[in-house]
Amino acid sequence: MENPILQGMRQHRTVRTFTDEALSPAHIRQAVEAAQCAATSSWIQAYSLLHVTDAAERETLAELAGGQAQVHSAPGFFIICGDARRHRLLMQKEGKPFQNNFEVFLTSIIDAGLFAQNLVLAFESQGHGTCLIGGLRNRLADVAKLLELPGSVFPLYGLCVGKPAEDPGTRPRLPFEAICFEGRYPSDEVMHKQMLLADEASKTYYAERGTPKRSWSGGIIRRFAKLHRENLPQAYLDLGAKLS
Ligand SMILES: Cc1cc2nc3c(=O)[nH]c(=O)nc-3n(C[C@H](O)[C@H](O)[C@H](O)COP(=O)(O)O)c2cc1C
Repeated sequence: MENPILQGMRQHRTVRTFTDEALSPAHIRQAVEAAQCAATSSWIQAYSLLHVTDAAERETLAELAGGQAQVHSAPGFFIICGDARRHRLLMQKEGKPFQNNFEVFLTSIIDAGLFAQNLVLAFESQGHGTCLIGGLRNRLADVAKLLELPGSVFPLYGLCVGKPAEDPGTRPRLPFEAICFEGRYPSDEVMHKQMLLADEASKTYYAERGTPKRSWSGGIIRRFAKLHRENLPQAYLDLGAKLS
């Protein structure tokens, strides 16, 4: 019998349709404060969470994210940002140069990712469903402009939260052996074999949902056959990131 934390982690599935039930400030505070307990590089806590409450702004964001209705229909919508701003401000106050480089940007992304996953689990533990919105990076510069984000704040993805109005089921993951290697990374041949196994599990998932011809590898092949979001380096540079 798994402990409640492991059980909760295994129950994760992305939810894209929500009931009208409001997301309470008490639930938000509880989830955020728990999520902040994630480990953070050198205790720098290089992230922020922007709660977008203006309905018109959320409609615009839904469009900017590629017409994703849940961005404005979910009871709660947040933007997870890597954030080096408070560190920059502190250095400025001290009259010392803020030594900015790629590591500063990368650390903020890593810290924000750990916080975000903790936040998803915290909301789910309260009975909420969540949907992360990477589509927010489709037109990152427009998002930053709309929300008047200051420099050194790097929007990474959105997060829709609310009580689920659907039960989409869990998506299978790669087998343990396909991602956890002992001592050395396996050969290409072994990797291919493990991906075939993963495809079998994904075919069952798709067959149960009436699309038996789909598979995990089919999705990957479509995804990596073209470049996505090529404007991102410039957009993050404009927000004050250093990419080298
Ligand atoms: C960083 C990130 C960005 C995502 N962006 C979107 C998105 O823009 N729209 C969406 O519907 N789902 C989005 N998702 C959800 C993924 O599609 C989903 O997690 C994945 O298909 C696995 O399904 P599951 O979460 O139900 O297990 C995103 C997930 C992550 C981690």
